[in-house]
Amino acid sequence: MADQKLKGRRTMVNLLIFQVVLSASLHVCFAEIGHGQPPTPRNISTVHPTDVNTFGSSVYLPVSGNVYPTGSYSVTVGIGNPPKPFKLDIDTGSDFAWVQCDPCQGCTLPPDRRYKLGKNKYVLCMDPICAAFHPPDPSQCIKNPKQKCSFKIEYADHSSAAGVVVSDSFPLRLVNGSVFQPGLAFGCAYTLKKPDPSAAGNAGVLGLGRSKASISAQLSSMGISQNIIGHCFNDKGGFLSFGADFVPKSRMTWAPMLRSSSDNHYSLGPAEVFFRNKPTGIKGLNVIFDSGSTYTYLNSGAYGSTLDLIRKDLIGKPLHEVKDGAFPICWKGRKPFITMRQVQNYFGILAFSFSGSSNIQLQLPVEAYLIVTEQGNVCLGILNGTEIGLGTLNVVGDISMQGKLMIFDNENQRIGWGSADCTRKFG
Ligand SMILES: *[C@@H]1O[C@H](CO)[C@@H](O)[C@H](O)[C@H]1NC(C)=O
Ligand SMILES: *[C@@H]1O[C@H](CO)[C@@H](O)[C@H](O)[C@H]1NC(C)=O
Ligand SMILES: *[C@@H]1O[C@H](CO)[C@@H](O)[C@H](O)[C@H]1NC(C)=O
Repeated sequence: MADQKLKGRRTMVNLLIFQVVLSASLHVCFAEIGHGQPPTPRNISTVHPTDVNTFGSSVYLPVSGNVYPTGSYSVTVGIGNPPKPFKLDIDTGSDFAWVQCDPCQGCTLPPDRRYKLGKNKYVLCMDPICAAFHPPDPSQCIKNPKQKCSFKIEYADHSSAAGVVVSDSFPLRLVNGSVFQPGLAFGCAYTLKKPDPSAAGNAGVLGLGRSKASISAQLSSMGISQNIIGHCFNDKGGFLSFGADFVPKSRMTWAPMLRSSSDNHYSLGPAEVFFRNKPTGIKGLNVIFDSGSTYTYLNSGAYGSTLDLIRKDLIGKPLHEVKDGAFPICWKGRKPFITMRQVQNYFGILAFSFSGSSNIQLQLPVEAYLIVTEQGNVCLGILNGTEIGLGTLNVVGDISMQGKLMIFDNENQRIGWGSADCTRKFG
């Protein structure tokens, strides 16, 4: 059921956001794609062909999952030689990838599906990448550079993973058809605590935040693809990409990433909530984008005010509040709801408006903040972040990024989005 999962170390950030329509160009992009083959990018340009390095190569991975009832989006990557498949939770709210290892305390996968440290290499303290994995005691590492690099990561849902950093080959097929087997560093987890139940079938987490340790950053430092992460999620899965080939030339809205020194979250500037196209006075919100969070979280004040607005707006409509599973706020109609279309007329469009970027908006149509449950009720997919210890941080989770191609362009320090159907046409 809808557990209130949220991954991502917490920090303060500011943000800006908005929205666009680009489904049309995406259809063009992904036309004529062979089954099981990575797509040939068409009518897609690199962001700034004259800027930085243009590698002309990208990685495309089909995504499985949904917001409800699964609660997460995952990709399956092969690791090792011969490669073994690992299903990883896509998490732009944390810094690096890790997988369950053997032996392990608290791991959820059977031993034969975990990663085994064979003749692959340990990453040592003296390797510069070690610092990006937040070793629990960096001073130890400095004293003894030949020591194994270790990691420990804690998420906002209070789950944690700890182990050693290793390097092994990740066979990847680029969209131009070339196959690479880069050796990439990732965490091999020997201890898991309070693992997220909705991710029980997963082997680990694919952290894609702004750190140098993300798979995307490592591919970029090897000159294979640019450090540009794209994800597009819908109710049937979607896709994930690394590199510039999937950045649409037009119909995207872009805003500069906030340059925050203190954390690796993706954020823009301060946001104001709009409802039915009007400012609400709920403003100054620090918002981050976090694909590891199923739902969207607002801090207590903003949450309470947004809830008041929605409730007021429902006065006189044939809906009344009910309890439904883990969702704190739900409504029942005259008849059980089956599709989102049936509730569309009762709810208004919400938006985050980013004053820092000439009032650019990230629009949240009803499906980006409401869930129709198995019981036929409609529930609010915006939750109280204060309740789970997020402090003043606000989080745009999967529910609000569905139906959009989201691009986290670390090469050009900007975040972009546009409407897209995210249909898997291959893979
Ligand atoms: C790319 O797509 C856009 C929008 O669909 C279209 O206007 C444009 O002509 C296309 N460009 C090329 C080179 O095909
Ligand atoms: C694909 O791109 C990679 C990285 O730029 C390059 O090394 C490789 O030669 C390309 N392959 C083809 C078939 O063009
Ligand atoms: C949000 O959660 C906090 C902490 O549990 C609680 O004190 C506050 O009343 C909640 N806010 C709303 C509007 O429910």
